[in-house]
Amino acid sequence: MIMLNPSDYNVALLAGGTSGEREISIASGQGAKKALEEAGFSVTWIDPASKDDMKKLIDGNFDVAFLCLHGKGGEDGTVQGMLELLGIPYTCSGVQASAIAMDKVKSKILYERAGIPTPQSETLTVDVPFDIEALKEKVGIPCVVKPATEGSALGVEIVNEASELEAAIERVFKIDETALVETFIKGTETTAGVLGNDDAEGMPIIEIVPMLGEFYDFESKYADGGSKHICPAPIDDRIAATIQDYAVRAHKALGCRGVSRSDFIIDESGKPWILETNTIPGMTATSLLPDAARAMGIEFPDLCIKLIEFALEE
Ligand SMILES: Nc1ncnc2c1ncn2[C@@H]1O[C@H](COP(=O)(O)OP(=O)(O)O)[C@@H](O)[C@H]1O
Ligand SMILES: [Mg+2]
Repeated sequence: MIMLNPSDYNVALLAGGTSGEREISIASGQGAKKALEEAGFSVTWIDPASKDDMKKLIDGNFDVAFLCLHGKGGEDGTVQGMLELLGIPYTCSGVQASAIAMDKVKSKILYERAGIPTPQSETLTVDVPFDIEALKEKVGIPCVVKPATEGSALGVEIVNEASELEAAIERVFKIDETALVETFIKGTETTAGVLGNDDAEGMPIIEIVPMLGEFYDFESKYADGGSKHICPAPIDDRIAATIQDYAVRAHKALGCRGVSRSDFIIDESGKPWILETNTIPGMTATSLLPDAARAMGIEFPDLCIKLIEFALEE
């Protein structure tokens, strides 16, 4: 691990972008900018939605890019590919891991191969007929319908009545060509961060208690008081260790670098099920990842230094 001197580094902070999560990305960027400056970096804000900003990125002689982009065109490998071409090191995962993690269907295949339990599911493609009775049989009711490649719970619906399933799938098809239908897991929602490259380590688990909606939906995620984070999560030590192990395995199975944060639900028998892995976790001061870092004694500015160190590591 290199111990860098922040004042030697010219950082391009990438935030904004054009995805459905633009506003969240801007909030992450504001949180990270403050923390990076507190750490002593010189920071230039680059919004990939602006052509002029992109020119600055090419001409700016940046030492490293700090990514606060969420969703498509930012968290999905596209920006990572451009930074590879420009020869600018960047935080978080590379092109391939970012693209795979953005796709919940592909991620689930890798989870299964790595021995990480993930809810039973079926993948549907727009305009391809499917047998709704067989689908209900396979995933059961209640189930969850979600777009394969969105984030922030955009388009995620819990279906409690069999008669509502088809309409929910149609709604997902309006925003994504691929719909994932999953068995609903009733239980405790948690999330587990992982820090590092080849020798990645699990962070303290956070329990998420949605205070507004029926699940951890868009509003619970981002509204003031929408959810409560408890870190470390008040769960059995053995379950916490299992989740940490699964989160590290997911990080490695997807080929993540630097940081990742996987979402889990612990069912009523105490078994954790992985839902997805986020390759660019939220970065506001009150986001989950900075909370988990704080619980291990790492303040937000130091977390930013670590992420940049991981980015510069060979
Ligand atoms: N199979 C499931 N069982 C129970 N709740 C789920 C399930 N899938 C998703 N959810 C709920 O929806 C939220 C968002 O789903 P998730 O798969 O994490 O997608 P994203 O956060 O990328 O939108 C979860 O945090 C959880 O509250
Ligand atoms: Mg999630």
